[in-house]
Amino acid sequence: MKVFVTGGTGYIGSHTVVELQQSGFEVVIVDNLCNSNIQVLDGIEKITGVRPEFEQFDLTDEKATRDFFARHRDIKAVIHFAALKAVGESVSMPLEYYKNNLNSLMNVLLSMREFGVKNLVFSSSCTVYGQADVLPVTEQTPRKQAESPYGNTKAMCEDILRDLAKVEKDMNLIALRYFNPIGAHPSACIGELPNGVPNNLIPYLTQTVAGIREQLSVFGNDYNTPDGTPVRDYIDVIDLAKAHVVAIRRLLDGKNKANYEYFNIGTGNGVSVLELIQAFEKATGKKVNYKIVGRRAGDIEKVWADTTVANTELGWKAGVPLVETLANTWRWQEKLGKG
Ligand code: NAD
Ligand code: UFG
Repeated sequence: MKVFVTGGTGYIGSHTVVELQQSGFEVVIVDNLCNSNIQVLDGIEKITGVRPEFEQFDLTDEKATRDFFARHRDIKAVIHFAALKAVGESVSMPLEYYKNNLNSLMNVLLSMREFGVKNLVFSSSCTVYGQADVLPVTEQTPRKQAESPYGNTKAMCEDILRDLAKVEKDMNLIALRYFNPIGAHPSACIGELPNGVPNNLIPYLTQTVAGIREQLSVFGNDYNTPDGTPVRDYIDVIDLAKAHVVAIRRLLDGKNKANYEYFNIGTGNGVSVLELIQAFEKATGKKVNYKIVGRRAGDIEKVWADTTVANTELGWKAGVPLVETLANTWRWQEKLGKG
């Protein structure tokens, strides 16, 4: 059974390809490598013994996307990861973000409809909830106006899926709303490869411990949280990858209850920035050099998932303990070294 994975050489995509192949699926990847490296395929092959099929092109190219589907008539389902994802960059480059994230989804959906591919899993984000009034957030928690063009592309893509599902009754679509993905494959063959100075907490932290960055800045300790630092739901990337396999199986087995569904994919646990630093130190025996600085603009105070629906409906539950996730991340950083 062949699954088409867009953005499959990226961080979450590559871990998902591994889980798909280890679950018996055949995979074909398309990626334009704008935020990933072709050597990721070596890592996937090393773990699974199978090199996935790969094509390099830009999914905003409608003709190239259509030609691809025309050549791959055996695709049974699509996982659409390909997107630009840097929140700050999206504020300064809104048109590039809207063009890339909306057009790539549109082209994939147009080709799916034309070539009769019925099943799609889409990468959404808990960013669609903004700062929710009630925590934890359930799937029924109202979405809020996005804080950034990036966040807005996720909300708009969800709306496209919802509207499409109303008319294309035999297309089956699932949006997974990820909380904060972290970690790396325990083999250290694949992991996160941020470009330039990382924006996200974990790559900045591991690069600081590795000596690439001087000091980690903790953005604010005056929030209304137990230790004053913001709280997030950090989900291991392998658990997240497995959620995609479960979602794909649900669609292929016809177990979905509606033809557009969306699920929170998190652990259900809120962890503060300082708690995460302490957990990293415990997991690795390494000291994190950090200082508290002012708040980062646009940060929300706290968010974590109610995962009841994913647990009961999908039959999926996060399982990797946080210390293991952090130890895997450090193993990956050590392998990368200072390069
Ligand atoms: P990533 O940048 O590592 O992977 C995305 C991949 O898509 C990259 O390999 C990139 O080269 C490719 N790509 C982008 N635009 C493309 C295009 N037009 N054509 C072909 N390939 C293209 O990012 P990731 O962290 O793996 O995220 C995967 C998905 O999950 C994205 O949709 C992202 O918005 C979403 N998401 C990520 C997070 C997170 O914190 N990492 C959280 C919530 C949602
Ligand atoms: N933080 C620091 N120092 C840093 C980086 C981050 O203190 O150097 C703090 C932030 O202030 C925040 C927490 O660490 O409190 C997590 O920050 P991240 O940047 O790692 O993650 P965010 O929750 O801000 O956002 C991430 C992705 C978004 C996605 C969102 C929900 O960047 O794309 O998770 O999935 F939408």
